[in-house]
Amino acid sequence: MAKTVWIGDVRKGVYDDQEIEIKGWITRSSYGRSNKLRFVVLRDSTGTLQCVGKLDILGEELFSMFNDALVESSVVFSGTVLRNERAPGGRELSMTGVEIIGAVDPERPFPINKESLEVLDEDGELMPGGSEFLLNHRHLFLRTSRMTTMLKLRSSAFGAIHRYFRERDFIEYQAPNFVAGAVEGGSTLFEVPYFDKVAYLTQSWQLYAEAAMPALERLYTIAPSFRAEESRTRRHLTEFWHAEMEMAWATNDEIMTHGEGVVRHIARTLLDEREDELTLLERDLDKLARYADSPYPRMRYDEAVEILQAKGVEVEWGEDLDYTKEKILTQDFDVPHFLTHYPKIAKPFYHRVDPDDEKYVLCHDLLAPEGYGEIIGGGERTWSEEEILKRIDEEGTPREPYQFYIDVRSYGGVPHGGFGLGVDRVVSWLAGATHIREVIPFPRTSRRVTP
Ligand code: 4AD
Ligand code: MG
Repeated sequence: MAKTVWIGDVRKGVYDDQEIEIKGWITRSSYGRSNKLRFVVLRDSTGTLQCVGKLDILGEELFSMFNDALVESSVVFSGTVLRNERAPGGRELSMTGVEIIGAVDPERPFPINKESLEVLDEDGELMPGGSEFLLNHRHLFLRTSRMTTMLKLRSSAFGAIHRYFRERDFIEYQAPNFVAGAVEGGSTLFEVPYFDKVAYLTQSWQLYAEAAMPALERLYTIAPSFRAEESRTRRHLTEFWHAEMEMAWATNDEIMTHGEGVVRHIARTLLDEREDELTLLERDLDKLARYADSPYPRMRYDEAVEILQAKGVEVEWGEDLDYTKEKILTQDFDVPHFLTHYPKIAKPFYHRVDPDDEKYVLCHDLLAPEGYGEIIGGGERTWSEEEILKRIDEEGTPREPYQFYIDVRSYGGVPHGGFGLGVDRVVSWLAGATHIREVIPFPRTSRRVTP
């Protein structure tokens, strides 16, 4: 029996002139010039391969099975790998055996085709995967080429984050997803019935990570976070994947150095592991090399406000900078840049007040270039009991849900800090996606929880 192999290896030339078997799905088929010849494109998770069936080699029965198999039928094909300059990738399978595993019913052909993939938005721009039809058929859309490519980039990004932190002795740590209080303000909290009480879905792992900080000192996670975010933008999900880290004794600058480090490591990993995929997406590899190699500048919030005002943008000192303003700021940079020292009034209670000037907090956001905007938010934490009580009371936040958080400070509080990185946002930016939903298998937004 012929050996079962991956298409990716066939295309690399590993099996030239050998008899092999491939398990996969039919992605395209077309008749040859005569009714004794047919071409089928077979797909597995590693790529696609042209397969050529000839009546005189296969015989009547196998040829008609090959001929009749519909798109997205699952099959096992065997044959000989031949070099052919005219075949995509320079190789094809000259068929000797055909087995149909899961046949598609001719009454119900695969619903996604070339036309349904090429839907334009109101501005006439291609909307990859964005039409209602494709969002409704997301479970089938996953196997199309652009989506598969995004999922592979996503996997490499997750791997890169784990490696970055583990190689630096961070401990992976899990926090609960049902929580009693807000981290990032009440307006985006999802409330869920919890027996005779109400609970919320967590917006961030941070507060529970701070509780373990005196035990583990350096910790990280990659986990879902939830935001009841109604804004319909290209960068908001209601459920997103959040890579967060927390570090004892660390200053805002040290935390930024890790933020920069992990983002550069993700860019480098995509270049090393996914050059083919990035090329398929027509992504400029030089840009990614710059994101991997160049240092990221740091600038204070006040300076950003001045830049915006000089450009004629209406912005008041003290406001958090929204997407439109971030987008304008990123135009001046060809790598990500940090904004530090936001006004205290723009940030939640856990941000540490700057001892040098009480109007500011020791925090940072990292803004990705090409108009993508915020990918990281972090900073130093309010770490003494006295100060945290003051900040909670100032905000008018009830103390009760945060008693555990206050206790952590009462028993050996130390300076510490961390950040959260939106993994979907980072992948979206590095892939050059038009919308964050392009890089997550089943996007959750204010308008959609299905399929
Ligand atoms: O800036 P945020 O709200 O910060 C926090 O949650 C901190 N507690 C994190 C920490 O210090 N441990 O969120 C962090 C990052 C953002 O910069 C963004 O990349 C991502 O999470 N993010 C979202 N991504 C997709 N959809 C949303 N609705 C997001 N909200 C935040
Ligand atoms: Mg933020």
